[in-house]
Amino acid sequence: MAAVRLPSLLGALILLSALLPNASTTKIDRRALVSRYNPSRTGNFSDLSTPMQVGNGNFAFGADPTGLQTILPFATMSSWGWKNDSLPANRTWQDVADYRGVSWDNHGRPVEYDFGGDPLVEQWLTANPNRVNLGRIGLALLSGNGTSEDVPESALSDLEQRLDLWTGNLTSSFLLNGQRITVQTFCAQDSDTVGVTVASPLIQQGRLSVS
Ligand SMILES: *[C@@H]1O[C@H](CO)[C@@H](O)[C@H](O)[C@H]1NC(C)=O
Ligand SMILES: *[C@@H]1O[C@H](CO)[C@@H](O)[C@H](O)[C@H]1NC(C)=O
Ligand SMILES: *[C@@H]1O[C@H](CO)[C@@H](O)[C@H](O)[C@H]1NC(C)=O
Ligand SMILES: *[C@@H]1O[C@H](CO)[C@@H](O)[C@H](O)[C@H]1NC(C)=O
Ligand SMILES: *[C@@H]1O[C@H](CO)[C@@H](O)[C@H](O)[C@H]1NC(C)=O
Repeated sequence: MAAVRLPSLLGALILLSALLPNASTTKIDRRALVSRYNPSRTGNFSDLSTPMQVGNGNFAFGADPTGLQTILPFATMSSWGWKNDSLPANRTWQDVADYRGVSWDNHGRPVEYDFGGDPLVEQWLTANPNRVNLGRIGLALLSGNGTSEDVPESALSDLEQRLDLWTGNLTSSFLLNGQRITVQTFCAQDSDTVGVTVASPLIQQGRLSVS
């Protein structure tokens, strides 16, 4: 038996090694592969369609071209923050609990489907619960007396923004009233925390803050 098996085992091994490519020469450079798809943009500051995102799978921060949510109210959402909207006018929690949708005859017996019925309750159930937008963080301009004002889009120009998908490093660079601002935005991988580094001469001048 052994004499018969050994050659066939050897044969199988030779066949396998011929089929398998050499592992050491074909190792995938995953970082290079992923980095090929790093998104970047140089457009204007009001493209509503495209937040850049940093996150950790349970939490995500949608950034506008400033690297924060300065101009566009993109969302900060999580897997743990949920809410219910208020009920439609003249509807109670009992109406929600009593919702049965439609009942259709199916081969001689009634079957209930979760659509139709009271349209107000149907719409509420479709839309709830939904994720809470946890907060909005943006750059603020400080005036001479220390009060903070929103940064107007008209003051911003010369945008360059890139997300490094491998490291989660979102780098945004632009001019505010002609002065360069560079923002690095990160999300922690072990907590739902956003970290931001802002570099600009406006900081030394006490004219810029994050709020
Ligand atoms: C900014 O970009 C958006 C989307 O591409 C475009 O619709 C809009 O006209 C642009 N605004 C300006 C001021 O260029
Ligand atoms: C939302 O309402 C439903 C009842 O329809 C309830 O089961 C759920 O706990 C509520 N969720 C929140 C986040 O309040
Ligand atoms: C709610 O019910 C009251 C009393 O029946 C009625 O006057 C009112 O128009 C209703 N409102 C809506 C939004 O259906
Ligand atoms: C601070 O300065 C701003 C802009 O110059 C002005 O609008 C605001 O009234 C001032 N606030 C105080 C408390 O002086
Ligand atoms: C993030 O990327 C920018 C641009 O490549 C780089 O200058 C910066 O050092 C990076 N930040 C970190 C913390 O790696």
